[in-house]
Amino acid sequence: MGVVIVGGGHAGSQAVAELRRNGYEGTIDLVCGEASLPYERPPLSKEFLAGRLSSERLLLRPASFYDQQSVNLHLGVRISKALPSRQVVECANGRRLSYDSLVLATGSSPIRLSFEGSDLEGVHYLRTIDDACAIKSDLGNAKRVLIVGGGYIGLEVAASCRSMGLEVTVLELQDRLLSRVATPFMSEFFRELHVNRGIRVLCGMGLTRLEPAKGTRSVAKAIDTNGGVHLADLVVLGIGVRPQTGLAESAGLECNNGVLVDRNCRTSADHIWAIGDCTNFPSDLYGARVRLESVPNAMEQARVLGRNLAGIDASSQATPCFWSDHFEHKLQTVGLSRFGDEEVLRGCPARGSFCLFHFSGSTLVAADAVNSRREFLAARRLVGRQVPKGVLENPSIDLASLI
Ligand code: NAI
Repeated sequence: MGVVIVGGGHAGSQAVAELRRNGYEGTIDLVCGEASLPYERPPLSKEFLAGRLSSERLLLRPASFYDQQSVNLHLGVRISKALPSRQVVECANGRRLSYDSLVLATGSSPIRLSFEGSDLEGVHYLRTIDDACAIKSDLGNAKRVLIVGGGYIGLEVAASCRSMGLEVTVLELQDRLLSRVATPFMSEFFRELHVNRGIRVLCGMGLTRLEPAKGTRSVAKAIDTNGGVHLADLVVLGIGVRPQTGLAESAGLECNNGVLVDRNCRTSADHIWAIGDCTNFPSDLYGARVRLESVPNAMEQARVLGRNLAGIDASSQATPCFWSDHFEHKLQTVGLSRFGDEEVLRGCPARGSFCLFHFSGSTLVAADAVNSRREFLAARRLVGRQVPKGVLENPSIDLASLI
């Protein structure tokens, strides 16, 4: 018996560190569906794809860490069943692990489309290191890349491919880019940025089918929903993710757009906790339940879990944070702009450095900082507070005066 952690992403790996940091001395089993040691996902669509970072450098922690922390590491093993009444999980290989506490850190998985040609060679999704290696290998021979989905993955891969000199087209189903995470102002900034770098961006456009090169199974052509034809020898679909809740649901846990947890990361079942992308939790800041696809949230919930399992009451109330890189431009977001109804701009988008603050009434609810680290750092401390808009709008006033 001990703690069994299901999932070796950022949340699962950090949970190990937090448990030991808080003095937990019992057995820890970390069960990872992937064969690799836990690694960083964010560089997969950027530095790793561009060949600037090796797979060894992606590891969150070296193998020796898990040895030193006496962790039973199960790599390439999937849990097929949880039996909460017996406090046991069953691996796909038939092995059973008993637990005092079970931690679900199962993350999210890409939404996949089935359409004519979706099984051709050269068609990819990007979530895992294996996915990224497969894309990288095809990139060697590619000239024209078609990206389906103008979200984080699609645009980061587009920028990486364009930087390598490839022709790139992006098809986005909605009428603007980044619509899940950004307001129209930011969507337009990123559309212009990508178009100015030579990427073709078609919004309000989906994919109908893919066709192979004559006599092969390799993708050569895409037909969009308007009947337009795009030559492409590599296709990457980044059309969003779904929380992986299958195990939780089959174990009878309450789920609704994620595994429902409380502020302490407790699920609806005794002895079962959940952290990271797979969770849906109450945010006091927004007075609503939220599900975040975010590394900082995974780390925060792992911290909260570690303390609670050590008997220290802790709850997760960190402000959500995200970042994304497009060419040499860095977007850093704090908070959730969808809770805002008014925007205040500081800085100059034309010069590539600005911060867009989002308000609900007089309360700052989020900020998008582009190449504006100082504003981002200030916003992290100001979100949730009433802030004078005139001060934010005036770049000559140091935001430190508000903190
Ligand atoms: P996303 O939700 O950010 O974007 C998906 C996009 O695909 C949306 O704009 C959506 O409208 C569009 N779409 C959906 N169906 C479509 C279709 N049939 N045809 C064309 N467009 C379609 O999800 P994305 O980009 O796949 O990212 C997946 C995950 O990876 C997210 O959890 C994201 O947070 C994470 N990620 C985070 C990064 C970061 O924080 N820097 C970088 C890359 C990924």
